[in-house]
Amino acid sequence: MLQTPGLSGKPNGKGNDNLTNEPSLTHIIPLISPKLIAPAEKLEALAETYGTPLYVYSSSIIRQRCQTLAAAFPDLPVSWLYAIKANDNPHILNLIREEGFGFDTVSYEEVLLSVKTGQRPDRIFYTENNMTDQEMLAAVDAGVILNIGSFSRLEQFARLPHTSECSIRVNPQIGDGHHAKVDTGNRDSKFGIRLDLIPEAVAMAASHGVKITGLHIHIGSGIQRPQNLTQAMKVLLDIGRALPDLQRINFGGGFPIPYRENEHPFSIQEFAQAAHPLLAEELDRRNGALVFHFEPGRWVVAPAGLLLTRVNTVKDQGRITFLGTDTGFNHLLRPAMYESYHAVVNVTRAAEPSAEEYTIAGNICETGDILAEDRMLPQTHSGDLLALCDAGAYGMTMASNYNRRSLPTEILIDDQGNDRLIRKREQADEIVDRFLRESFFTP
Ligand code: LLP
Repeated sequence: MLQTPGLSGKPNGKGNDNLTNEPSLTHIIPLISPKLIAPAEKLEALAETYGTPLYVYSSSIIRQRCQTLAAAFPDLPVSWLYAIKANDNPHILNLIREEGFGFDTVSYEEVLLSVKTGQRPDRIFYTENNMTDQEMLAAVDAGVILNIGSFSRLEQFARLPHTSECSIRVNPQIGDGHHAKVDTGNRDSKFGIRLDLIPEAVAMAASHGVKITGLHIHIGSGIQRPQNLTQAMKVLLDIGRALPDLQRINFGGGFPIPYRENEHPFSIQEFAQAAHPLLAEELDRRNGALVFHFEPGRWVVAPAGLLLTRVNTVKDQGRITFLGTDTGFNHLLRPAMYESYHAVVNVTRAAEPSAEEYTIAGNICETGDILAEDRMLPQTHSGDLLALCDAGAYGMTMASNYNRRSLPTEILIDDQGNDRLIRKREQADEIVDRFLRESFFTP
């Protein structure tokens, strides 16, 4: 692997050679990390203007990724959905909708957000997860495509007086994912209707006059072996054979992105090649009367966003040198939650060679608030700006006010290269006052 100056990361973990011992390349070619979504000077200027912590997204990268997906099955009726849980900033939803994507939603609140940001209800797929009766009724009223993942909920839905069709989520007994916590297709996961109960579920729905017009799987997030997805697709297509009323088959999301610098990227084209014959055959069988969906989230937005944070503390603890930052797992939970890797770039010194090993710590009062471990970076000082890369997905949507801290500001760099404030950080007194108000507390 070529170590890019300013880009941290040791592919083989502890004990790997310090690549900065090879100064020839790093000194001669002042490369800027390919993971930075904008020139380092631009990022410095944004941090200066808007302050840190700051999520920065690139609209052109998001658009380009949408277009890559849209071109994957040129001759098949594939209707792409975007899993809005990955990043639901309204401006980002807008631009993905403009690219022709429908939305995958997993809560009534996400349904409402999709409707209110202009998505057509018939392009909103609502995969319920322990939905309440109220949410069910509201979703029916909203006219979205309801995808039901349990036998008992399907029964309640089928008993409603005015319902005639829905989609069902199947547990294909094939799971995958970057971490056990996000493997959703395995037989012990809470998701989907048990494979052997599907015929009974369909018959039960029919007995109440409800047709199963859709089938769905989502085997997990950050799929490690794409064959698992194609295998699960076969399982779903087999089930579909017995369903005459089928209008749509949704194969879920889960396309991975390479977080590590030496990871082999998942190829949409290779996947499409493997999936094409399966889809084409089924389409033929149904004389073209079928629509296919995929619903990626991460793949669309993760590489299009980064979290900028300032180092305010450099601390030598003997065995570890910590860079203390003004963000933490309240803003980017993935490292603490899944031990996820995010590349780190010292933006201030992006052209300098890596020189020292650092662990990047957050400002949350927990030992586990570590954003990145054992990273080679240029000699870093208090005041330097760091970029946590590939943070466009499951960054801001999983952020919280833990330690009563405010959420980061969000900026979108538009197609012309202009930056736009798309969410403003609350000031310390604003967040505390809001909290007191919401708690009905009068001092
Ligand atoms: N469809 C359904 C029903 C899902 O539950 C998910 C993600 C997706 C689609 C989109 O999956 P994607 O294409 O983004 O992998 N917080 C975790 C990821 C959790 C994903 C949950 N479901 C993370 O940060 O890695």
